[in-house]
Amino acid sequence: MARLIVVSNRVATPTETKGSAGGLAVGVFGALKDAGGVWFGWSGDVVSETVANAGPTLVQEGAVTFATVGLTKKDYDQYYRGFSNATLWPVFHYRNDLARYERDEYAGYRRVNAWLAHKLIKLIEPDDIIWVHDYHLIPFAEALRGEGVRNRIGFFLHIPFPSPQVLQTIPPHDELVKSLCCYDLLGFQTRNDQQAFHDYVAREAHGVVRELGLKHRQDKQDNHSEHEGEIEAYGRKLRTGVYRIGVFPDEIAEQAARYESRQHVLDLKQSLEGRKLIMSVDRLDYSKGLVERFHAFEQLLEHSPEWRGKVTLVQIAPPTRSDVASYKVIREELEREAGRINGRYSGLDYTPIRYLSQQYDRWKLMSLFRESQIGYVTPLHDGMNLVAKEYVAAQNPDDPGVLVLSIFAGAAAELSGALLVNPHDAAGMSEALERALSMPLAERKARYETNMEALRHNDLGVWRDRFLSDLASVPQPR
Ligand code: G6P
Repeated sequence: MARLIVVSNRVATPTETKGSAGGLAVGVFGALKDAGGVWFGWSGDVVSETVANAGPTLVQEGAVTFATVGLTKKDYDQYYRGFSNATLWPVFHYRNDLARYERDEYAGYRRVNAWLAHKLIKLIEPDDIIWVHDYHLIPFAEALRGEGVRNRIGFFLHIPFPSPQVLQTIPPHDELVKSLCCYDLLGFQTRNDQQAFHDYVAREAHGVVRELGLKHRQDKQDNHSEHEGEIEAYGRKLRTGVYRIGVFPDEIAEQAARYESRQHVLDLKQSLEGRKLIMSVDRLDYSKGLVERFHAFEQLLEHSPEWRGKVTLVQIAPPTRSDVASYKVIREELEREAGRINGRYSGLDYTPIRYLSQQYDRWKLMSLFRESQIGYVTPLHDGMNLVAKEYVAAQNPDDPGVLVLSIFAGAAAELSGALLVNPHDAAGMSEALERALSMPLAERKARYETNMEALRHNDLGVWRDRFLSDLASVPQPR
């Protein structure tokens, strides 16, 4: 089996891969352990130029080498905080109103990609397969190719891909798409994302797009292998595909049940005094629709007074990217709205919204999901949203909660047992909450089973193995 090299902006630590790591890290580490290989990326540290240049730091764990480098303050500002998170992230989430474009930052983004690629070169062996993740690393393959690397290189985009008109708000949009075409395989979370990329290539880059669907695959039985595409553009040929990232549902179910009687769950239960519980967990990001979610919950209390004092919303939202201006704004807005709604509907012994801006251990979250009657996951735009999948997997099969899910999360295409809502429709969301709170057990069970079947059918292993087998089957670049 060919060795695997995974490249991502952040690299899980060897300790994290054993316990607290999220979906992606668990899946990717599984493949690395089996095939042997390297996980390469930023350590998360901002360091001096001397320390950055001395990297990568290598840590060996069985057959896996964790190879990380630090970034200088300038690189961090331009590549991570700047172009990745103040330009690409908002635009790819259809928030071009929040995006800014600075030429220097874009130049820094390309420079850091080239520097990272150069750092990786000495760790690459001729037959290695290279799998690059997410928007921070769009020009990575182009930089490797420039250094003469001829290995197969695949790219998976974890976030949405915007429609051409939205993408065009980023001045060097054409260079970005050209860079993407230096990969051999591009993976998207949903058909919409893949289609948006195809549209750009056909209309703006005058490339050739062939949509092969299922027809050309040998394993036609595998109905995950949807919508394969073949692109010819910028003098290169490459493949595209839809690979929906998943979770390992049975592992989550087992962990959630195991932690069920731990103190933190008992404390929560006691403090609820029999009230129903709605759970939301997100990074504190404007793409997650947190304010809209609070407003819909407020409408529930306003229009259905019988629920006042009877239902609590727990929103866990650890702050993230807090040195990017738009993240400060969303945090202030959320704090203000939580305070206002609580001021309006609290009683001496009741607080409707418990807003916790802290990080919680992953398995603690799973057990809290299991205790709750509703998983309230309503992003304005989201590549997949693994919280939605984790919520379902963590439920007690004999008494499952209901998932209220935004139609703009990638997961909505798979979880047909969820109550789907439009996050811009506060009244519609509040009706969905009410329906979920009063849903009979038989319907809850039926919806849960439909969702669990989808999760098992397309788990994290399927996502990873399909991508890697498709990448292994593309012709080796000459
Ligand atoms: C999203 C992105 C990931 C990123 C994560 C955390 O899920 O798709 O690539 O690692 O957010 O963001 P951060 O900026 O803290 O790495």
